[in-house]
Amino acid sequence: MEFKIKSGDLAKHKTPCLVLGVFEKRKLAPAGEVIDKASGGRLTELLKKGDLDGEPGRTLMLYDLPGVAAERVLLVGCGKRKEATRATYRQALAASVDLLQRTHAGEALSTLAEAAPEGLSHYLAVRDAVTTAAERVYRYSQTKDDKQAPKTPLRTLTLWVTKKQESDEAEQALRHGAAIAEGVTLARELGNLPGNLCTPSYLADQAHDLAARFDTLSVEVLEEAQMEELGMGALLSVSRGSRQPAKLIVFHYQGAGQGAAAAQRPVVLVGKGLTFDAGGISLKPGADMDEMKYDMCGGASVFGAVQAACELDLPIHLIGVVPASENLPDGDANKPGDIVKSLSGQTIEILNTDAEGRLILCDALTYSERFDPAVVIDLATLTGACVVALGKHASGLFTADDQLASELQAAGVAAWDRVWRLPLWEDYQAQLDSNFADMANVGGRDGGAITAACFLSRYAKKFPWAHLDIAGTAWLSGKEKGGTGRPVPLLVQVLLERSGVLSAST
Ligand code: BES
Ligand code: MN
Ligand code: ZN
Repeated sequence: MEFKIKSGDLAKHKTPCLVLGVFEKRKLAPAGEVIDKASGGRLTELLKKGDLDGEPGRTLMLYDLPGVAAERVLLVGCGKRKEATRATYRQALAASVDLLQRTHAGEALSTLAEAAPEGLSHYLAVRDAVTTAAERVYRYSQTKDDKQAPKTPLRTLTLWVTKKQESDEAEQALRHGAAIAEGVTLARELGNLPGNLCTPSYLADQAHDLAARFDTLSVEVLEEAQMEELGMGALLSVSRGSRQPAKLIVFHYQGAGQGAAAAQRPVVLVGKGLTFDAGGISLKPGADMDEMKYDMCGGASVFGAVQAACELDLPIHLIGVVPASENLPDGDANKPGDIVKSLSGQTIEILNTDAEGRLILCDALTYSERFDPAVVIDLATLTGACVVALGKHASGLFTADDQLASELQAAGVAAWDRVWRLPLWEDYQAQLDSNFADMANVGGRDGGAITAACFLSRYAKKFPWAHLDIAGTAWLSGKEKGGTGRPVPLLVQVLLERSGVLSAST
């Protein structure tokens, strides 16, 4: 999808569709007033008929408005002006795109950014318009004939800004928004692919394809033999139960200002790339097990964030690490009670083979020490317990570092990809005690998301570290089943801030 910025005389602008915001009580946003005037009061006249009051997300399409060059005018409800929130604003943006997709317009000029809530910066208002549009337009089609696909999909969205001096900021927001959206799309697409196609080897191939597209990006894929040599006993124990070989994918990105960036300690993103999680010998129940193809969404979000960094040529040193494996039952699979030795040297008693994410992540975390990271952030669909705690709206955030917590919380708000912090107190660590190894891989039912984070913390002592449990946020279930691309927006926000392109939102 293509995005553009325009300013100038709205009424004279030729477009298949002009999108205008309407607040409740039929109050036109400023652009609407301009058009109302140009059409000799036609808009107010039509609104008086009462077909649209301004409720958020409601839409009304108008044709042949006199004095207006646009072929169509789409009115979009934006809610009560005084009570407009980021959520109602995004709802209006989404509704406009959904309706455009059902018409033959194919192209539109949207003025909705002016209907953004007061507290929202113009930059974020424009970026939201771009990211929501791309999010609504995305359709999965890799393995099916999409019969319901729009005949004339929305191909170009032009965003109208009032003042010429706002357009530099808008252009930046547009560029950032487009890169975020493409990163999100990549993550969704990888997530949506089934486990028989999206295997560890497939992810490794995709990593090579991504690296081939950018001079600034290289990739290294460690094979099982190399992992064996290094001593990644935890990761390899998971993959032993699978016929697909595990891969450890390592992206190296070095953006503009190579010299300086090379000297910079890297941001390291570690993403769980479990391409299908059947639970292993501790087999999962059958219901909804298909959704465990999404267990690689942490890894997919690393792909998305790395791609965005490349596209924006961010002046930053970034490393992406994706341990990729399947978790299946097999004669050679992990058994409850088995003890393995991790790369760190610590031994682990595997009491539940379904707690495999932490087993592949712990070795990836230890491996990350070699990069002397400025920070390590891991992303993982780690626990069902996190979904119970936070539902589908917030990712779980775990870190002992208050400053890092604030940074990620603020970035999550800025990117509208929010996280909620849960404790990582020492008190929970004892739940991982084992009589036979340095630790058990599970800590019982209580605080399951927390004890999972506690487990990882034992492999993250040598660098500043945060863990995001994205089990609830990485995909939607039911009728809307599909990857969300989260937390790519949050990650790109962090990279934009850490690279100095944006000032910190904290
Ligand atoms: N990938 C799952 C976590 C998961 C489950 C995410 C359901 C989203 C929905 C993970 O590997 C897992 O199975 N975790 C176990 C841990 C337990 C055995 C301690 C879980 O959450 O049940
Ligand atoms: Mn599992
Ligand atoms: Zn899993």
